[in-house]
Amino acid sequence: MSYASRKDDHVRLAVAQHRESITGQRPAPFDHVAFVHHAMRGTADHAVSLATEVGGTTWSVPLYINAMTGGSARTGAVNQGLAIAARETGVAIASGSMSAYLADSSVAATYRVLRAENPEGYVIANINANTTPEMAARAVELVRADALQVHVNAIQEIVMPEGDRDFSAWPGNIARLVETLDVPVIVKEVGFGISADTVTQLAGLGVRIVDVSGNGGTNFALIENARRPGADFGQLADWGLSTPACLVDGAEAALAQGVTLLASGGVRTPLDVVRGLALGARAVGVSGHFLSILETAGVDALIATIDTWIIQIRQLMTLLGAETVRALADTDVLLTGELAETCRLRGIDPAIYARRSR
Ligand code: FNR
Repeated sequence: MSYASRKDDHVRLAVAQHRESITGQRPAPFDHVAFVHHAMRGTADHAVSLATEVGGTTWSVPLYINAMTGGSARTGAVNQGLAIAARETGVAIASGSMSAYLADSSVAATYRVLRAENPEGYVIANINANTTPEMAARAVELVRADALQVHVNAIQEIVMPEGDRDFSAWPGNIARLVETLDVPVIVKEVGFGISADTVTQLAGLGVRIVDVSGNGGTNFALIENARRPGADFGQLADWGLSTPACLVDGAEAALAQGVTLLASGGVRTPLDVVRGLALGARAVGVSGHFLSILETAGVDALIATIDTWIIQIRQLMTLLGAETVRALADTDVLLTGELAETCRLRGIDPAIYARRSR
């Protein structure tokens, strides 16, 4: 199986999965996070700042287009559309895994387009956790990246017929990457989440930014299962921690270790973004939902959607009386359903979240 056809499969299957999930039955994880309504706490919209700090840089909005693709003609076109949307809306953007480029430089243009279309933007390169520091530096250089994502995707690899079967070198290699590279390193999952224990482990390796990328959105267990002959490995479909569960689980460890949490996985609306920020994320990433809009309605529709999201994030912060992203962490939120159950089992008291403003 070539890189190119695998990357095309991922885009096709992720878009199909997203369209199915629009009519999905189960409550989505973010629906287990509700703001307590205080009727007279609102502020003025002009007093609200959407600015947020990630890795020593100020982003004008706490939203980014998360890692997806590159490596084939079709996915190069997807990257071009995503890069134009990032440029026109001012959001940060991450590349998909650059392994294809590191193995075959003839596909460089399918990634370079992220920088070519968006010369002034915040661009993040993306590699796997086995990539050497020298290779990682080449990935950063190709897109003149402002930061580097390292994805940890053991479940995807296990279900992938051609995937890795040895994850034992990841921690040591991540420590080497942090030590060697001169851009901030962000470690991210790909939709199965990062626990408090992993946040602590990563902090011990020198990592200062973690994108929890929990379950509830794009599901790579199902995508890779669909690519298996016989589709015989579907039992991992519900594996992992949801994005809100990761944020609640990891909050204390992140604070204690000085780790910035980013949130992605299953973000569908501006309200989900504000929920993620209220649970302590500094910024919130979206992949599947934005890809689906780009692929079905085109780049102008994606730009219009992101512009609307930015307006509505400000409006939600206005009604919550949160004039900064950090102030959202003092709002009162009700954690219900499966999320409350996860809190209970992990020894976290959801009542603390319901009375944070007192
Ligand atoms: C991804 N994702 C991903 N992540 C990564 O670190 N490197 C990658 O190459 C890819 N590739 C990829 C392809 C496609 C088509 C999608 C939709 C996603 C995972 C992505 O960054 C994110 O972690 C998950 O998709 C969860 O977020 P959403 O999709 O639920 O918003």
